[in-house]
Amino acid sequence: MDMLMFELDKNAKEPLYEQLYEAIKRGIIDGSIPVEKKLPSKRKLADFLMLSQTTIELAYGQLLAEGYIVSKPRIGFFVEDIASLPYIDKPVLVPETKPTAPRYDIDFSPGRIDTASFPFSTWRRYAKDAIDEQQQSLLLAGSAQGEYALREEIASYLYQSRGVHCRPEQIVIGSGTEQLIPMILQILGDYNVYALENPGYQMTHHIIEQYGQRSLPIRIDADGLDVSELEMSDANIVYVTPSHQFPTGAILSAPRRAQLLQWASHQGNRYIIEDDYDSEFRYIGKPIPSLQSMDHQQKVIYLSTFSKSLMPSLRIAYFVLPEKLMPRYHALFTYYTCTVPRFEQHILMQFMRDGHFSKHLNRMRKIYRKKLEKLTAVITNYEAVNISGEQAGMHIALTVTHPQNAQQLSKQAKDAHIRISPLSQYLLKDDARYAQHLLLGFGGIDEEKISQAITTLFELWQLKKGANT
Ligand SMILES: Cc1ncc(COP(=O)(O)O)c(C=O)c1O
Repeated sequence: MDMLMFELDKNAKEPLYEQLYEAIKRGIIDGSIPVEKKLPSKRKLADFLMLSQTTIELAYGQLLAEGYIVSKPRIGFFVEDIASLPYIDKPVLVPETKPTAPRYDIDFSPGRIDTASFPFSTWRRYAKDAIDEQQQSLLLAGSAQGEYALREEIASYLYQSRGVHCRPEQIVIGSGTEQLIPMILQILGDYNVYALENPGYQMTHHIIEQYGQRSLPIRIDADGLDVSELEMSDANIVYVTPSHQFPTGAILSAPRRAQLLQWASHQGNRYIIEDDYDSEFRYIGKPIPSLQSMDHQQKVIYLSTFSKSLMPSLRIAYFVLPEKLMPRYHALFTYYTCTVPRFEQHILMQFMRDGHFSKHLNRMRKIYRKKLEKLTAVITNYEAVNISGEQAGMHIALTVTHPQNAQQLSKQAKDAHIRISPLSQYLLKDDARYAQHLLLGFGGIDEEKISQAITTLFELWQLKKGANT
């Protein structure tokens, strides 16, 4: 134990040693000074509390006599296990509230990545370089928008891979999409009505509700967001995942993209928030340009994250603001510090600058494509199951024709320690079209275990294999 901080009153009628004895005793009984902890030496505690050593000696002596502490010769004083002392009023312990997470043998949840393929040694090398005397400046607070050098790397990456036009000055880095969406909401101000994809990313919905703003669900079909429904609504801001709709996996078709940009251009207060969370992994056809790259009227706020492309625990995401919204950003946020530690930003910047990020994406794209191929090969053996949303990302949608609905199938899987969610979980408003849909994330499952994982699940559901297998 380093020290014991107690507030003692020199003017009280109880002597100081008694006050100290009482304070330590209370700490031992309520567990804040744990069993077997070494107490500070008499001299050190006397210096720290500015008391005489005799005062400490008297307090420790009393605790010793009553069995709260023991003395080990030449080592010091240690807290005793007082559970057996009959004269102690034990505190009522509040039961542990931390929920115990269910244990899954197979986890098809969409947030998981392939952790085994992470380039640990390269990352470690850059981490070592960052934590070095040469990098003393990283100990000081950095730019509120995030490291300029990292923003330069992001701007260049976005231009090359997503056609996004921006200057590093338009990029704001923060610790995750969930931390950046509230900032975007504040930049856009009050009295907005947000259109959200239904089904959609629940985090956005929660944040908009928490900020007391109105939101409207808009239906999704095979071409992505139904822009005609948006046009008929009161919404002036739309949040979309056009490259790989979360969770259906639909890709916003070219005519819908044009229609959406048209919609935004009709009124000054209309904006599109484009969440491009997993577009790095596209398996079929040529890359689809971002909406931001097609926008000539400063209507798109582009948002993306490193949670899928690198790791969700990194907590680094960013948005790109249209130039005309920059003054509003500066007015609101320049006085805050960037929420991502500078060391992490520096490591990521070096990783990108030396070409490792692109290399990592190319490698991961191959790995995820192989997993997807394995997955589809096994699934297509079965009757009554359809796949959609497989062109990109790390999850697909399954439609299962079955006497049980998707919610019941998910529950049955959970009871067998398999995690797979019904797509209805992501609905903001009921939509019967999704009664038989489930969301299957494959990023975190080893390639060689995919066949067995799917077979186990489908056998549990008693699905039949097709005639051709
Ligand atoms: C639609 C969508 N956007 C963004 C994210 C990433 O969020 P964050 O950057 O907070 O990890 C996810 C995560 O899975 C997602 O599904």
